[in-house]
Amino acid sequence: MKSFVSLAIFAAFASSAPSGTQLLAKSAASTYPGAALLGSTIEGCSVDSRGGMYAVNQTHFVSLTDASISKPLLVGAGGTESFFASSRWTCSMGALVGDAAAHKVWKATGAATLFTEKGMVQPNDFTVSKCEKRMYLAGMNYTANTGDLWYYDVAKGKAVAVPVPVGTETFRMNGVELSPDDKTLYVTSAENNANATQVLSAKIWKFKVDPATGIPSSPEVAIDLYKTLEAMSPPLDPKTAGMDPDGMRMDSKGTLFMTLNAFGKVLVWDTNGPTCNAKVIDLETIQNPTNLELGGADGKTLVVVGRCRADLATSCVDSYAHNTAGRAFTNLQGKQCTTAPKSKSYY
Ligand SMILES: *[C@@H]1O[C@H](CO)[C@@H](O)[C@H](O)[C@H]1NC(C)=O
Ligand SMILES: *[C@@H]1O[C@H](CO)[C@@H](O)[C@H](O)[C@H]1NC(C)=O
Repeated sequence: MKSFVSLAIFAAFASSAPSGTQLLAKSAASTYPGAALLGSTIEGCSVDSRGGMYAVNQTHFVSLTDASISKPLLVGAGGTESFFASSRWTCSMGALVGDAAAHKVWKATGAATLFTEKGMVQPNDFTVSKCEKRMYLAGMNYTANTGDLWYYDVAKGKAVAVPVPVGTETFRMNGVELSPDDKTLYVTSAENNANATQVLSAKIWKFKVDPATGIPSSPEVAIDLYKTLEAMSPPLDPKTAGMDPDGMRMDSKGTLFMTLNAFGKVLVWDTNGPTCNAKVIDLETIQNPTNLELGGADGKTLVVVGRCRADLATSCVDSYAHNTAGRAFTNLQGKQCTTAPKSKSYY
């Protein structure tokens, strides 16, 4: 009887929650069948100028539209030599792939090297400025609880370490994205406990980008992720889940999307407004989302990749209809892209 009463009270309470507030990204496995072939290391989602979607696993960079018929755009050695973790399309350099084990960025066309910088911890993810002259790369060492941020000047072919308050305020860095005006750089940071068995806190930091030099400086906390999630209604518990911030992308108006790895959700926050406006999108089939990007024909479909809830050894893709095109997709519509030769093989 007692259990029946509490069940009834719970049911009444649950149904009193405001209806229609849950945002859900649904399985996009039929639109992006290539995602299922990437396995547990699926990551590094990117968009091309036509809205085609791509992703990487440790060794392969593929089109998600149909990886079974399109050949991979880039294949790495794997093992300790190569670990693809990120990808981005550009007009001037084609598709770029970040390799965390080789500490380099590949140009997929011709399997060429854009640059190698052994001083980088990884890179894990990277972003590209609108003019494609500047790149920012973030990385982490999980066991050491440290991370770094690099600036790559494309014209000079030079990588520079960006000063970050590592070990005191910033720790493992991962997701990295520029604002639509390229003036602000957002970078995630997560802190482990001493023996790396628990994530203690996670934040997104923002840096001011010097318009003349491209160097980011003056880091400050943009959003305290654990505090924001704990303050949501109903409250979320990122500490118990060991939530880790992962891939991060923006739309063309400054709304930021970030995968909440180990949490099966995506954070949505309009950076023009207060952090209390942040919301989460639930994911139908993904338990560990690793990366995301806005694409599709109009550039407004949020595509999320990660490990499946049903089996963490397999990869899944979920999508959500957003109302604004992505920053990367919008930048790729620029003049430099319409005049650049287009690769036809992967559409
Ligand atoms: C990576 O992706 C390729 C292409 O889809 C696939 O053949 C390979 O098995 C994947 N690797 C792992 C470790 O899942
Ligand atoms: C990460 O840091 C540990 C020390 O905590 C070190 O032994 C290891 O080599 C580092 N890993 C990489 C890939 O640099």
